[in-house]
Amino acid sequence: MKTRFALDEMVMLVTGAGGMIGSAITQRMAEGGARLALADREAPSSAGDSRSYALDLSDAAQVRELVDAVVHDFGRIDCLVTAAGITSLGSFEDISLEEWDRVHGINLRGVFLANQAVIAPMKAAGFGRIVNIGSVLAKNGGNPRPWIDPQEQTRAGNAAYGAAKAGVHALTLYLARELASHGITVNAVAPGPIASPMTNSFPTTLVQQIPAGRMGRSDEVAGMVAWLCTRESAFVTGEIVDVNGGLWMD
Ligand SMILES: NC(=O)c1ccc[n+]([C@@H]2O[C@H](COP(=O)([O-])OP(=O)(O)OC[C@H]3O[C@@H](n4cnc5c(N)ncnc54)[C@H](O)[C@@H]3O)[C@@H](O)[C@H]2O)c1
Repeated sequence: MKTRFALDEMVMLVTGAGGMIGSAITQRMAEGGARLALADREAPSSAGDSRSYALDLSDAAQVRELVDAVVHDFGRIDCLVTAAGITSLGSFEDISLEEWDRVHGINLRGVFLANQAVIAPMKAAGFGRIVNIGSVLAKNGGNPRPWIDPQEQTRAGNAAYGAAKAGVHALTLYLARELASHGITVNAVAPGPIASPMTNSFPTTLVQQIPAGRMGRSDEVAGMVAWLCTRESAFVTGEIVDVNGGLWMD
């Protein structure tokens, strides 16, 4: 089945492709006819015209090798989607330096490395789409309400995660300006809480804060990512698109 968005023959590199949101994105891209390069810590299963790559995305040399391999295997990279990431829970007061660095190593450094690595091949082609996955937690100061229930703080996202995602939003804006005249758009999608085994353990009060009255779904994130990868979205760049059921509006 083809989607209404034209992704035919586009070469898409998706990081975190084995994860919940990453696999929804790759499924949507495959339905649109894209050719997929799937990257994750362990090689995701691939089918048809797709290929898998295993690496640590926080390692600069491995990210460069990944991009070289994709260009070698597919001839070019039309789209980069950075869906790899890790969570971090608990209070600001308890974040260790090791935890801060661990989260920033993949959630910010990893995104920086992947974005930087695709610039040259995209510039050479005069076309590109970069979509980074940010988060509502970069904007709203976090969902926990410890003044009501201290347990909420221990069970939901913390500042290390939010600060890294805020960095992702900011680098998206800077790169969008730098690349706009090269036919390359750079945007981010900032999801709210997406239903998963992990987020289902979040306090029910979190769901009550979402005007839509429910958690989001991975395919709802994937739909926005897919559109931002199309040729039709050419005049949209430097945008942080909220997909959060109204949890945060700006
Ligand atoms: N799930 C949510 O509610 C939610 C909300 C907002 C934003 N996000 C963001 O969306 C993205 C995907 O989240 P998800 O819920 O699908 O998580 P997930 O854990 O299901 O997937 C993340 C993937 O990233 C990969 N990964 C982590 N570190 C890596 C590394 N160093 N090298 C290579 N691969 C690595 C993991 O192996 C995993 O497959 C993340 O950036 C996350 O922060 C998620």
